[in-house]
Amino acid sequence: MDRLPVDDDTWVLVLTGAGVSAESGIPTFRDAQGLWETHPVEKVASPEGFREDPMLVWRFYSQRRAGAARCVPNPGHDALVTLEKRLGQRFLLATQNVDGLHRRAGSERVVEMHGNLFKTRCSLCARAPFDDADVYAEGTVPACGECQARGQFAPLRPHIVWFGELLDPDDIGSINDFIRAGRSHKLLFLAVGTSGAVYPAAGLVNQVKAAGGSAWLVNRDPPENAAHFDRFFQGPSGVLLPQLIG
Ligand code: OAD
Repeated sequence: MDRLPVDDDTWVLVLTGAGVSAESGIPTFRDAQGLWETHPVEKVASPEGFREDPMLVWRFYSQRRAGAARCVPNPGHDALVTLEKRLGQRFLLATQNVDGLHRRAGSERVVEMHGNLFKTRCSLCARAPFDDADVYAEGTVPACGECQARGQFAPLRPHIVWFGELLDPDDIGSINDFIRAGRSHKLLFLAVGTSGAVYPAAGLVNQVKAAGGSAWLVNRDPPENAAHFDRFFQGPSGVLLPQLIG
């Protein structure tokens, strides 16, 4: 099997999606029995859904917290840690996953594009998102203590980028800066375990190609944007990434 072509002048931007955590036991979204099959996305992952039924939303994310806390990183996550150690600042991992498994595996240069399951923020005030692994009791919605102290009720919400919401501009900035810096070197994009259905993540392959880079893909099924990649390794990332990275 080929190895990822990495030398002292190579900059690697990795994009991961739910597939990289599948072998850890975390459900994906769009596969058969994926989360969006059993949970209507507009109800549990949109600002409108939260306004309508915050209890349902907290139930969904509390269940996901409990599930993710029971899972551990797999050899795919570990291989990306190995790659980061080899490359240092010439490595950036942009993940759409909110399960925190990359950091638990030891990855440090991580941009969590879609937020973090173990962080909560206020739906009203501008206080910074805070660590929160609580699994809230069925039928409850946590309230912001800081707003309460000012005599106002404001529900807390998961620190997740929902449909219809914008990504954190700092996260976009970090990815764009990396591509800009990498374009005068050998820029390599590696996408893993993502259906290529959600933007802006799905457009990163085009951005890297426009910057003169090459694009490799590791995925169980051909994603929507498969045609944009130079190489496609089809199969489970927990097996293929250790082989590609060594
Ligand atoms: P999807 O569920 O859309 O796609 C998962 C992809 O992983 C599919 O293409 C599978 O073929 C592939 N896959 C499954 N198991 C795999 C394995 N063991 N090894 C390699 N590939 C595997 O998940 P994402 O593309 O991550 O956003 O979804 C993107 C975003 O849509 C998510 O971040 C989430 C969702 O709505 C938010 O919640 C904001």
